[in-house]
Amino acid sequence: MCGIVGYLGEKDAKKHVMEGLRRLEYRGYDSAGIAYYDEAKADHLVFKEKGRLENLAGLLPEGGSQAAIGHTRWATHGRVTKENAHPHESHDGRFIVVHNGIIENHKALAEEYLAGIPRKSATDTEIIASLLGHLAKGKDVAGAFRQVLDLLEGSYALLLMDREHPDILYAAKKKSPLLIGQNGRDTIIASDLTALCAAATDYLALEDGSIVTIDERGFSVRDGQGKAVRPVLSPVDKAYAETDKGVFDHYMLKEIHEQPAVLRRITAEYFDQETPRIRKDISAMLQKAKRLHILAAGTSMHAGIVGKALFENLARLPTEVHIASEFAHHPPLLEAGSVFLLISQSGETADLRASLEIVKEKGFPSLTLTNVKTSTLAREADKYLEIFAGPEIAVASTKAYTAQIAVLAILAFALGDGGFSLRKELALAAQGIENHLQDHKMYSGIVAGHLKKPHAFYIGRGLDYAVALEAALKLKEISYIHTEGFAAGELKHGTIALIEEGIPVIALVTEKRTAAHTRSAIAEVESRGADVLVIATENVAEKEDGIRLDTVHPLLTPLVCVVPTQLIAYYAALQRGTDIDKPRNLAKSVTVE
Ligand code: AGP
Repeated sequence: MCGIVGYLGEKDAKKHVMEGLRRLEYRGYDSAGIAYYDEAKADHLVFKEKGRLENLAGLLPEGGSQAAIGHTRWATHGRVTKENAHPHESHDGRFIVVHNGIIENHKALAEEYLAGIPRKSATDTEIIASLLGHLAKGKDVAGAFRQVLDLLEGSYALLLMDREHPDILYAAKKKSPLLIGQNGRDTIIASDLTALCAAATDYLALEDGSIVTIDERGFSVRDGQGKAVRPVLSPVDKAYAETDKGVFDHYMLKEIHEQPAVLRRITAEYFDQETPRIRKDISAMLQKAKRLHILAAGTSMHAGIVGKALFENLARLPTEVHIASEFAHHPPLLEAGSVFLLISQSGETADLRASLEIVKEKGFPSLTLTNVKTSTLAREADKYLEIFAGPEIAVASTKAYTAQIAVLAILAFALGDGGFSLRKELALAAQGIENHLQDHKMYSGIVAGHLKKPHAFYIGRGLDYAVALEAALKLKEISYIHTEGFAAGELKHGTIALIEEGIPVIALVTEKRTAAHTRSAIAEVESRGADVLVIATENVAEKEDGIRLDTVHPLLTPLVCVVPTQLIAYYAALQRGTDIDKPRNLAKSVTVE
């Protein structure tokens, strides 16, 4: 996924766009670029550079501007090079474009319309600029822009500058997110709220098909049929403006430490005393379900696995968890009474959007659980619920995982017959996390002592196995240590062949019922030379266990048990010098299939 920002107004457009790009860098950081109209030179200047945003910032001359567009890239078409960085210009140099999305028919369009026209990059985006250059000759730009958009297949959030009209910006949106904000007559437009909230007082999330014209009076929107749309703006929640690391060295560590507060915020949002506060229409949707299908990817899918245990144990609701990218192309047989729950921190994951299209085609009800209420999945599903985790900037998801589990627990509890105080149990879990975070610095020694190999295993049973999957992903994605999350009981059926002297095996033990079995698996790997570290809750802990956690409700153990694994990943990455908040090859939200 990439990030785009545009600004037109009386203040310094270049500064606002660069600030917006800084806030969007978590969306993609292979390269960055900016184009702006330099009044002094009476010309548009374009700068772009490989690598982080600071590489681009170092190229920019002094001097303000009143119109600018910018881009941070996560490469999809074309390698990570300066030539492939955005903005891209039309072959005749007239148009300048930044784009988030994928144009699926870019090759066919180039063959049909741009034969013989030289290409400067390997990107699909350059085709958009050159199509404009080719079709706008002698025509009005807005008409040519719409004509080009009608040719495009795929997804786009586009910003366009025309060297012949430096006082106008154009934008268009289809499937990729795009929000527009205003502050008086100044207009800022960006891929998400965090990028525009510092400059805007009010905003609007644009619908698919929108075409926007921005000039010194403000902005106007037309829909896919060219009809003027009267924009209804909402006030910007300034909480999104707060994106700094505070006392922490990395967003990831800050967000790990925010988890107790997030759980308490969720409790406040979703409880009236002991009673869960769930909108009646959402409760009704879930009460009608004969089977719940959870669709998610990555960490959110791991939270969904915990969700299955919660819905089946608390609400007796049969539940299936699907990897969204699999469901999108190989949906299982679905019976009447199926209800779909999409879990997505960003609300923009393309695999889920593709799955949702199938769910809607088949006429099943859908509910999105997300951290971004303005997101595409929040708008495209029948209903949505927020997880109230606050902006999650680190690419590796931590507080969203525990927040998702907490809200899943509340939904399942509300459907069931209760029998205990979930509100209290969530408070105990928040306290358990807080207690453990006091000693987070000890993980530096734990990691140095245990993670000395390029491979590692997490093992567990039941919910501990669900956490082992998430723990393995976290360690892999920020420290680059190849790690497997494995069912403890399954190890002996083959994979134990990989256990050799010194291989780290981190065992998660919280479940009384299976603790002895997991400890048998520990003994099996230890007898083959594994370097074992046990993470256990007090109710099942033994004296040689390396990490001990407060005991919590058996269905909420993932909330506390995941925290040591998040810290292990963090300190392993710190010791390996990887980029903790922006790991290689990753993006915060994957908006391509
Ligand atoms: C989690 O650490 C990863 N960054 C990734 O697996 C992420 O959870 C996945 O891409 C799903 O994102 P979403 O929750 O925004 O849909």
